[in-house]
Amino acid sequence: MTYDLTALRAQVPALASGTAHFDGPGGTQTPLPVIEAIGAALSRPLSNRGALLPGERNADSVVDEARRAMADLLGADPAGIVFGRSATQLTYDFARTLAAGWSPGDEVVVTRLDHDANIRPWVQAAERAGVTVRHADFDPDTGELTADDIRARLSGRTRLVAVTAASNLIGTIPPIAEIARAVHEAGALLYVDGVHYTAHKLVDTEALGADFFVCSPYKFLGPHHGVLAARPELLETLRPDKLLPSTDAVPERFELGTLPYEFLAGTRAAVDFLAGLSGLPAGGRRERLARTYELLEEHEAVLRERLEKGLTALDGVTVRSRAARRTPTLLVTLDGRRTEDAYRFLAERGVHAPSGSFYALEASRHLGLGDTGGLRIGLAPYTGTEDVDRLLAGLAAFLEQPAHE
Ligand SMILES: Cc1ncc(COP(=O)(O)O)c(C=O)c1O
Repeated sequence: MTYDLTALRAQVPALASGTAHFDGPGGTQTPLPVIEAIGAALSRPLSNRGALLPGERNADSVVDEARRAMADLLGADPAGIVFGRSATQLTYDFARTLAAGWSPGDEVVVTRLDHDANIRPWVQAAERAGVTVRHADFDPDTGELTADDIRARLSGRTRLVAVTAASNLIGTIPPIAEIARAVHEAGALLYVDGVHYTAHKLVDTEALGADFFVCSPYKFLGPHHGVLAARPELLETLRPDKLLPSTDAVPERFELGTLPYEFLAGTRAAVDFLAGLSGLPAGGRRERLARTYELLEEHEAVLRERLEKGLTALDGVTVRSRAARRTPTLLVTLDGRRTEDAYRFLAERGVHAPSGSFYALEASRHLGLGDTGGLRIGLAPYTGTEDVDRLLAGLAAFLEQPAHE
C-alpha cells in the first residue's frame, strides 16, 4: 500500500484555495472527518460527564474514546492521558505541581534547543522554589543536542530534566531514550516536549523513557488543545491544586474544569484519520498508525530531499537544519535579505512559509539569529511535489529581485 496524497488532500477543505502550506509546524490544516466529528459532538445532547442522561453518557464516551485514541498514538496507557488547553498550559501546571516537591539546592535542567514552553515554566517554577536551573546547549553548527550535553548538567541534586523530542525551529531529534537512561540513573524525572515530534514520528513513550510526554493535536491534523501522557502510577504520586468537589481520580485530578468535549471528539477523529492513511483495512489502531508513520516518513523523505536539493541550488540560501536525525522542518536564512520580506513575497504568491523564531527564542539566539530567526519551511502529511516546486520557484524569484537596504 502506498501513500494516497490525492485522496488525503481532497479531504482537507482549507487546501481547496490552492495555497501551498509550509506552516504545518505552527499548526496543520484540518481534514473533514475531524471537522465533522467536532460538529457531531455538539449536535448530540452534551452535558457534564455522568452515567444517567444521554448528554452525560455522550460526554463520558467522548472522553474515554479520546483517551484511548491518544494512548494508541503515543504508546501509552489511556489512564495516564491528561487533556488540557495547550501544551504550554499543561507544562505550567505540571511545573507548579512538581515544584511543590522540590527543595532549595535542588536542580532542574532545561535546554537551549527547546521551545520556550518547555523552558520558562521550569525556570519560573525553579525560581520560586529556590532551585538552580542548568542550561544544556546544543551545537549551533551541527544543530545536535547529545546525551553528553545533558549528562554534563546532571548531578545528585537534579530533580527534573526538560527536553524536546524534536526542535520546532531546526527539526533536530535528540536521542531521547539515551537521555532518559542518563536522567533516570541520576534519579531525576524526564519531561519531554513532543509537540513537534508527534507530527512526524510514531511516539512510543515507553521506548523513549519519557516520564511525561506532552503534545498538541493541532500539529497533527487535530483541533487546538494539549495532551500529556504519563504512567498512571506516577500521576498518582502528584497532588495538583484542584477544586474541592472535583474528583481526585487519575487522570481527571489534573484536568481543571470542564473538558472541551468537542475538541476531544475531533482529536479522536484525527487519530483515526491518521490510522486510515495506512491504507490497512483492518488491524489494531496502533498497528495501523505504525504503518501510517512509515508511509509518512517515506513521503516526507522524498519531498525533503527535493526541497534540500532545490535550496542548495539557490545562491545566498543557508539551511540551518543540519542534525543527522531531524524532522522535515527546514530553517533557512538568506544572505543580505530579510526572511520577513521573503515570507511576505511568498505569501503574495499563495505560498505560506512564515519567518520568525517561533518561540524557540533561546535556540534562535544560540544559532546567532537573535530574536529574528529565519524562514521556516515545514512539510506536512498533505504537502506535495508541486507545493515544493512552487516554494522553490517563489524563493528564486524573491532572490532575483534587487535587495533593499
Ligand atoms: C515544540 C513545541 N513545543 C511547544 C509548543 C507549544 O504548544 P501549545 O501551542 O500547545 O502550547 C509548540 C508550539 O508551536 C511547539 O512547536
